[in-house]
Amino acid sequence: MSKPEHIAIVMDGNGRWARQRYLPRVAGHRQGVESLRRCVRACEARGVKVLTVFAFSSENWNRPQDEVSGLMDLLASALAHEVKPLHESGVKILFLGDRSRVSQRVRDGFAQAENLTTGNTKILLNVCFNYGGRWDIVQAAQRVAASGQAFTEQAMSAHMVTAHCADPDLLIRTGGEMRISNYLLWQCAYSELVFSDKLWPDFDEAALDAALAQYAQRERRFGKTSEQVRSSTLQAA
Ligand code: FPP
Repeated sequence: MSKPEHIAIVMDGNGRWARQRYLPRVAGHRQGVESLRRCVRACEARGVKVLTVFAFSSENWNRPQDEVSGLMDLLASALAHEVKPLHESGVKILFLGDRSRVSQRVRDGFAQAENLTTGNTKILLNVCFNYGGRWDIVQAAQRVAASGQAFTEQAMSAHMVTAHCADPDLLIRTGGEMRISNYLLWQCAYSELVFSDKLWPDFDEAALDAALAQYAQRERRFGKTSEQVRSSTLQAA
């Protein structure tokens, strides 16, 4: 059964999870952190090497002020309480996105988490924060231009914020919506897409396994024909 090495996730549905329980939206995000912790462990146990999650998009600043500040408080609390246990279980953490708009305190927290976990090899957790796929393409293009290199796919990939890892094999979006929402636009060119109706706080190991089972049934052709893919798989075996 083929398994993805790199899974990217749009963790959608926290707000609805909270509303269903007559709770403030931020309570859903808090439960979302629990679900993320569970998901990292489950991915690690299943041999996934890279997990990239969409924690805060460039567009999320437009949410009501109390929700934005609730998310920032949650981030500060996650940095204070989640990083050490993740480090102890061998998780390497990187934060990807535009850091220019986040506070110095948060930037320091990102740097501390990255420095602490830099030598870990069990699984890489990329946390996309103040990230947007179009922003990523533009910043990569600006850096390619500044370097004087030719604009090739390779040069662009080398300047995207994910240059340190291979592209996602599988993109999961929870919460029932079927769109990419400006996430990893460049990197997901050939990713398999799986949409789950589960709200993110309810996305448990069984839901992850269901997504992995869907992935295993897909034939990844990268523009080739089915016959070509099958004959190269047979040759490799
Ligand atoms: C989308 O759900 C989720 C987010 C905008 C935030 C995701 C964040 C976490 C899971 C917590 C980890 C992140 C931080 C910052 C510590 P939604 O609010 O759009 O849900 P809805 O579609 O039901 O309204």
